[in-house]
Amino acid sequence: MTKTITIKESLNWAEAQLQQSCQRPRFEAELLLAHHLQKNRTYLHAFDDKHVPEIETFKSLVSRRANHEPYEYIVGSASFYDIDLKVEAGVLIPRPETEILIDLVAKIIEKEAITSIAEIGVGSGAISVVLARKFPNLKIIATDICDTPIKVARQNIKKFALENRVKVIKSNLLDEVHEPLELVVSNPPYIADDFELEKNVGEYEPAQALFGGMVGDELLKQIVLDVKERGVPYLACEMGYDQKEAMTLFFNEIGVKSFTFYKDLTGHDRGFIITF
Ligand SMILES: C[S@@+](CC[C@H](N)C(=O)[O-])C[C@H]1O[C@@H](n2cnc3c(N)ncnc32)[C@H](O)[C@@H]1O
Repeated sequence: MTKTITIKESLNWAEAQLQQSCQRPRFEAELLLAHHLQKNRTYLHAFDDKHVPEIETFKSLVSRRANHEPYEYIVGSASFYDIDLKVEAGVLIPRPETEILIDLVAKIIEKEAITSIAEIGVGSGAISVVLARKFPNLKIIATDICDTPIKVARQNIKKFALENRVKVIKSNLLDEVHEPLELVVSNPPYIADDFELEKNVGEYEPAQALFGGMVGDELLKQIVLDVKERGVPYLACEMGYDQKEAMTLFFNEIGVKSFTFYKDLTGHDRGFIITF
């Protein structure tokens, strides 16, 4: 028979298990237990002498986290911008820096009264869902080459009742998109194939969402060329912190009307906006 233990004892146990894999083991132990009990963290402190039901299930959540699996995959949800998005293995966990890309794109959409855009590499749907919620007249076609992101993005689009305005299709870049577009936004894979990632990323997040080619910027450059060729006026992309120089050379080589780079909150170069 499994021994029953209290909330306090479970947290002490989980904290010890998470020492190696988490920067804030106590906090993550609390998050996982709150998720397990379907309560908030305050409850854990108020009722720390209560017994934890189904303790083996909780222990398996903790052992997944102790094995570096991202918290978001364990609980099936990620906080992004002003919403919670469903996520699962096979879909990139949306990152806070991508919120900066959204704010920059939002400014262009507002200024130019844009109503028709495309997103390349929809993932969980993070960018498209947030933009569609911000702009009630905006129509978005979002592409991905992988099946799991397409499925999960559609679920998130449905969760926010955006099915009429955000369409997800399976396509390499924009190959299957035939509608006229005013802007393209993308957070494509941009990491070099041989770059060694932290265990929680490299072993759990999908390679197709991370690696952009031998150098890393191959897909970014292809996106720039495709969007230019179609005569779309604006392109906004996230990129790697060390890709500004190579992308600047490339923009000058192919000739674009103007471009600006932006930084993330840690001061690293993180993306660009092109006007063609
Ligand atoms: C870095 S993730 C971005 C996901 C999401 N937009 C976000 O910001 O969280 C890149 C996405 O692009 C997709 N992808 C990779 N290569 C692609 C291609 N050639 N055409 C379309 N999508 C692609 C991947 O499957 C992945 O979902």
